[in-house]
Amino acid sequence: MDKIKVVLFGFGTIGTGVAKILFNHADRITQATGKTVELIKICDKDITTRRDIELPSGVLCSDAESIFGDPEITIGIELMGGLEPARTFVLRLLENGKDVVTANKALIAQHGNELFNTAQKFNRTIAFEAAVCGGIPILSALSTALQANTLQSINAIVNGTSNYILSQMESGKTSYRDAVSQAQKLGYAEANPAMDVDGTDAVQKLAILAQLGFGANVSWKNIPRLGIESIESIDFRYAKELGYRIKLLAVAERSSGGLELHVSPTLVKGDNPLARVRDAFNAVRVVGDSVGSVFFQGLGAGQLPTASAIVGDVIDTILGRTAITFRTLHLWDSAKTSVAIKSPNEFFGKSYLRFSVQDQPGVMHEISGVLGNRGISIASMIQHEPENKTTEPAVLILTTHEAREGDLLEAIIQLQQLPAVLGKVVRLRVQN
Ligand code: HSE
Repeated sequence: MDKIKVVLFGFGTIGTGVAKILFNHADRITQATGKTVELIKICDKDITTRRDIELPSGVLCSDAESIFGDPEITIGIELMGGLEPARTFVLRLLENGKDVVTANKALIAQHGNELFNTAQKFNRTIAFEAAVCGGIPILSALSTALQANTLQSINAIVNGTSNYILSQMESGKTSYRDAVSQAQKLGYAEANPAMDVDGTDAVQKLAILAQLGFGANVSWKNIPRLGIESIESIDFRYAKELGYRIKLLAVAERSSGGLELHVSPTLVKGDNPLARVRDAFNAVRVVGDSVGSVFFQGLGAGQLPTASAIVGDVIDTILGRTAITFRTLHLWDSAKTSVAIKSPNEFFGKSYLRFSVQDQPGVMHEISGVLGNRGISIASMIQHEPENKTTEPAVLILTTHEAREGDLLEAIIQLQQLPAVLGKVVRLRVQN
């Protein structure tokens, strides 16, 4: 039987999961490919820490240089994360005639153009299913089964860590800080968990989804993002009162002026399936003109769900399926950009606004005046009497009807200048 020799760069949580599947379930890979797949080297700078798997002797190494030129290796799996040396390693693998499988969304989102051009130049492929939503086969669905559609929208929960934190906070039992460290222990969080909670991880994934779903060649840095740091337990209570849950949503939505792209904490109506996605689960709702609405849900982070997508890519690469898809997609090809990206000020949507205000006559009148002057209409309002009227400011919650983003942001700046408005206005998007 033919042997396929594979090398893995990065022996962290996900790398260990890939090694477990390749060593412990070699029969499955053989059955799928008709070949014997051998993981002959695992390269990591740390070769002393014990991992949760026994490796055959000689597999673990720290010298990447000796691997690139080895003609027997045909597939390199990059799981180091980060931009460098991951970018250089992937380029070296491609230049040396090896196909690449990677889970590195930062790398794809940042250097997709260079990497895909290099792969084409050397007649090689890059598979990256695990880069977005871990175990959910969303990239494969967008690039194959849903091809007959013009997509209308993608609404997605793409960051397991922030979804886990929001779920824990919503239950009222865990502090923000405890939830972050628990997500780290469970292997969901990035090496730098700030990227999970500030929306960076999510915009990088959204840039990849927008590229595959809409042909949008957009830099992740230009996608507006807001993280979950400004959300307080009080927001979950008011959201519940209004019939919503809070989720960090990544949105790509086609509208008359082009594609709206943003990542932001959003009040999602309780009967929307995205509202019911809890813990580290990810979910993607795709709406296409022929298929209608399709909903995907699964674990987007963690060892084996992510490894499942990576080994699936290894199998597709061996079978030649990756090459067929890769050739036809024109990924990160600026000449093939098929959609205009809308300027953030022109987005339209509903909002939730939380104010701390002095509880005195005329405050509502002033606030509604600022909004009304910009054509922003109030949809609902909540104010509960504070327990201690003399010491506590009042909390005022407003939701708005659809408004132009530029008008709303200007109104918020003006509202924050009103003497009766204390501190910052917290703004979340609202989606039904
Ligand atoms: N840190 C990511 C998340 C997993 O929490 O979703 C890898 O993309």
